[in-house]
Amino acid sequence: MTLSVPAGVIERYLEFLPFADGAPDLTIGEGGTPLVRAPVLEDRTGIREVWLKLEGCNPTGSFKDRGMVVAVAKALEADARALICASTGNTAAAAAAYGARAGVMTVCVVPHGSTAAGKLAQTRMFGARVVAVTGTFDHALTIVRQLAERDGVILVNSVNPHRLEGQKTAAFEIVDALGDAPDELYLPVGNAGNIAAYWRGFVGYREAGRATQTPVLRGFQAEGAAPMVLGHPIDDPVTQASAIRIGNPANWEEAAAACDASDGSIEAVPEAAMADAYRLLAQEMGVFVESASAAGVAGLLQRRAGGSASPERVVCVLTGSGLKDPDTALRESDDPIAAPPDLDAVTRVLGWSD
Ligand code: F0G
Repeated sequence: MTLSVPAGVIERYLEFLPFADGAPDLTIGEGGTPLVRAPVLEDRTGIREVWLKLEGCNPTGSFKDRGMVVAVAKALEADARALICASTGNTAAAAAAYGARAGVMTVCVVPHGSTAAGKLAQTRMFGARVVAVTGTFDHALTIVRQLAERDGVILVNSVNPHRLEGQKTAAFEIVDALGDAPDELYLPVGNAGNIAAYWRGFVGYREAGRATQTPVLRGFQAEGAAPMVLGHPIDDPVTQASAIRIGNPANWEEAAAACDASDGSIEAVPEAAMADAYRLLAQEMGVFVESASAAGVAGLLQRRAGGSASPERVVCVLTGSGLKDPDTALRESDDPIAAPPDLDAVTRVLGWSD
């Protein structure tokens, strides 16, 4: 009997990736994430098909794994001595995991006090060296860009072109599953790499004859951290969604060009709308995401409420797992009901006594 081993994104999409000399042997099983229908959102929006791409099902719980496996494979080709990144948490966890897998030291610089607990726990367990700076993500990125000028130190933020090459595989998977690109794609925007990567993927697939169309891109930033909506960088981005608390996105130009080419938009969503979408996904769809990941769904509901024209088929990208940020989940949900360990007491606190 032949065992069939799930391939990672490099093996599955090699012909579209920057490996002229064959597939490097690096994967932790990234990609191949579920695409599930969301009838609750179809009812609410009147859109015929709403699909959710569950990127939290990647090995470290976010979409970053797709880009990181390619970036780290390329770093190995370049004989890297160390990987370095700035991160609001998910990039750090992915870099640390693939660094561990590849046997390369990883350094992660994160904003102090605003990195979700699950992300820090992962990054630390994978053995990365973590530096917490008393500043924002944008400060951290400025610092790591300079440290990466040292010999053998590879920057694995999404300014590393190989990251976006890997991340574009999510677009391939969507087309492979649906038979064509959707009419619209909804997703959160932070450092603005992912939206650019999706565009590369959809355009690449159309050019290869695998899709007949490309989607309209709909990116969403949190209202208090929306430099691309305001049209200028901001020094002090504010949002509960720490993953996308970024004031000066590194991939601004490519993302803005992608959005324009798609006839799309980058819009702001209020905190309350993101929190509502975060709860709605969990409590009516059984999908537990981190709060930043709910921005696309919040944006979809906001646009429909505003009476925008109805597309027929849309995909919302849910970028990260809810387990990344247990503190927000515990704050946004009901406390357990305390009870002594006997049947009567538990029946009573449930309100099930006759
Ligand atoms: N959603 C999640 C869960 C993220 O972690 C990020 C970015 C985004 C969306 C936005 O994606 O930056 O490509 O526009 N997280 C980065 C990090 C900044 O350091 O983990 P983007």
